Amino acid sequence: MIAHKCPHIQVTIVDMNQERIDAWNSETLPIYEPGLEEVVKACRGKNLFFSTDIDKAIVEADLIFVSVNTPTKKSGVGAGYAADLFYVESCTRRIASVATSSKIVVEKSTVPCRTAQSMRTILEANSRPGLRFDILSNPEFLAEGTAMSDLDKPDRVLIGSLSTPEGRAAQQSLIEVYSNWVPKEKVIGTGLWSSELTKLAANAILAQRISSINALSAICEVTGADVDEVAYACGLDSRIGPKFLKSSVGFGGSCFQKDILNLVYLSESLHLPEVADYWRQVITMNEYQKRRFAQTVVSSMFNTITNKKLAVLGFAFKKDTGDTRETPSATVCRFFRQENAKVSIYDPKVPEKQIFLDLTEPGVQDDSAVVKKQVTVCKSAMEACTGAEGICILTEWDEFKQLDWPAIYESMAKPAMVFDGRGILEADKLREIGFKVFSIGKGVNL
Ligand code: UDX
Repeated sequence: MIAHKCPHIQVTIVDMNQERIDAWNSETLPIYEPGLEEVVKACRGKNLFFSTDIDKAIVEADLIFVSVNTPTKKSGVGAGYAADLFYVESCTRRIASVATSSKIVVEKSTVPCRTAQSMRTILEANSRPGLRFDILSNPEFLAEGTAMSDLDKPDRVLIGSLSTPEGRAAQQSLIEVYSNWVPKEKVIGTGLWSSELTKLAANAILAQRISSINALSAICEVTGADVDEVAYACGLDSRIGPKFLKSSVGFGGSCFQKDILNLVYLSESLHLPEVADYWRQVITMNEYQKRRFAQTVVSSMFNTITNKKLAVLGFAFKKDTGDTRETPSATVCRFFRQENAKVSIYDPKVPEKQIFLDLTEPGVQDDSAVVKKQVTVCKSAMEACTGAEGICILTEWDEFKQLDWPAIYESMAKPAMVFDGRGILEADKLREIGFKVFSIGKGVNL
């Protein structure tokens, strides 16, 4: 977006992974995101470059965005909760050792509070004499599937800096970059630590809204209340607002769970166990929602899905992306496998290879042969549904609303059941065709 909006700025994206960089330089980009390809193809070779020559890019740059992974630690202190800052630290060290002129280093990766401070210490301790490094925190709030429009018209851009004159001057340089297309009042300057914490806080609050509505969906299913009516009516209160109140089979994505776990870890390290418990509950509710959905499928299908064919429509964690990180669909499919169902999966954007990667555990034991016996990846929704006894909607892809439902009904074993984990289908119309329908948060009246 910077390259697109600022033709006078040269943007060089560097990565150690040659294959990724080659893909960015090729006709087929390594990720799918609506509108991205057009922008990349328009700017590439003009003021946008992809390269593995990291040192050259460091030397040439005035401003460096550190945008690397900060995955949840798998071992050691804080395993399962804390962010692994290995990549952030190695980038910082590389910048310090390679730079021959002063730089503004922008922390873009989501990091725990006070990481900028550590980056500053590393830079200052390892750089050549006479060089200045100013650190800014500029968290990214884009969501997948709408990344380009979010970048184009952000609700806000947050730039955290130290409150020293040098910190403020660095902040001003980055404000100038964004002011090429973002209205001034939307670019907010804060302290470094506020900015770092805001990223975790925003994601935690968003996820908390989903867990809140999902908790209510469980009450709706028992009482016969309709979760969409409840969400709509609550959302009309301007203090609550209508967004992020769509009940679902659970939230997924690379950020929510990771960032909340991070916040939990931070709270525990700060000796605030009540705060940690509070945020942990958002995740607990999400796990419960996935399990609850899968259990509803089993109980509705006469308490057994052994050898029954189940069609799973949607594997991505949300529509308009091929990303499957933390996708609720994988959790639900694993549950179905444990119950010995035959699962046929269709997703318009997720490749077969990725689905099998997500459903197998090669690191632990090679169970791919077993998985392939139970799971089939299909080329269309119709193919997945033919002969199935139940259909589960696990991603809200628009095309699932337009399917030829009467034809699908004809092709299925009876009673034909639909379990709408995203609340996107018109249940009454499906019932008229003959389906038995369960929609999340709408009462179990199959
Ligand atoms: C999120 C934040 O929205 C974004 O600001 C941050 O920068 C990165 O993390 P993303 O994970 O791409 O973005 O997608 P998002 O649209 O937030 O959806 C996350 C998950 O919540 C998806 O699985 C989605 O289906 C689910 N969701 C979202 C609901 O179940 N109900 C809702 O009302 C909204």
